[in-house]
Amino acid sequence: IMMKKLFVKDYHQLSLTAFDLFLQEFQDNPAGTFGFATGSTPIGFYQRILEDHALYQTDYSNIKTFNLDEYVGLDEHQPQSYHHFMRHQLFNPLGIGREQVHIPKGNAEDLQKECTRYESLLSSNPIDLQILGIGENGHIGFNEPGTTFESGVHITTLKESTRQANSRFFDSIHEVPTQAITMGIQNILHAKKILVLVSGSSKAPILKEIFHHPVTTKIPASALHHHPDTTFIIDEKAAVSL
Ligand code: GLP
Repeated sequence: IMMKKLFVKDYHQLSLTAFDLFLQEFQDNPAGTFGFATGSTPIGFYQRILEDHALYQTDYSNIKTFNLDEYVGLDEHQPQSYHHFMRHQLFNPLGIGREQVHIPKGNAEDLQKECTRYESLLSSNPIDLQILGIGENGHIGFNEPGTTFESGVHITTLKESTRQANSRFFDSIHEVPTQAITMGIQNILHAKKILVLVSGSSKAPILKEIFHHPVTTKIPASALHHHPDTTFIIDEKAAVSL
């Protein structure tokens, strides 16, 4: 199988292209199940969704949403939680209600039970289109290097480099949680279509690894070579080493 690559000029074009592909899928399937991601990369794409919605009142009331991951220990009202991020960046302005939204609960009393709950929600709601970013070490969701490709929803310990990279969203590195609950690689591979957004020079080295290195658990994103319908959208800065 071949992962598709769409090369675009810059972050703005990446956001527009992601939006076009998302909209096609949504129009084909206005009651579809969409997998969303956090991080900085999808923000421009989410803003495009909001702009379009403001113009055309696109009706998202029949979609279901699933998120990849959440920090352990943060409750959904804390500003650094992925719940909070999604509600403010996307769901609230679109009028997407709680009953449509699925995100792991990072402050669940029994985290193992929470993994099981999320796993069974995913198995009864196959994802039509999953949006992904990639970490600088190749992580997808919070599946860090070394995670088996058979993994389901699980608790993971974040690499120090991942905590560093994400510390920009916190007051200090000490406040970055050490664990997260994440969809496993297997869950991600079950999505019918996957769209991976890759922008900026910090992603150039790992992108080269993904495309020029054999598939390995050391590079979680390389698992996407096993998926039948994955498209990477890559801007010029990220593409320099390809
Ligand atoms: C976090 C998220 C990932 C995301 C990655 C890259 O670690 N758990 O889902 O893809 O960051 O983030 P960014 O887009 O900010 O580079």
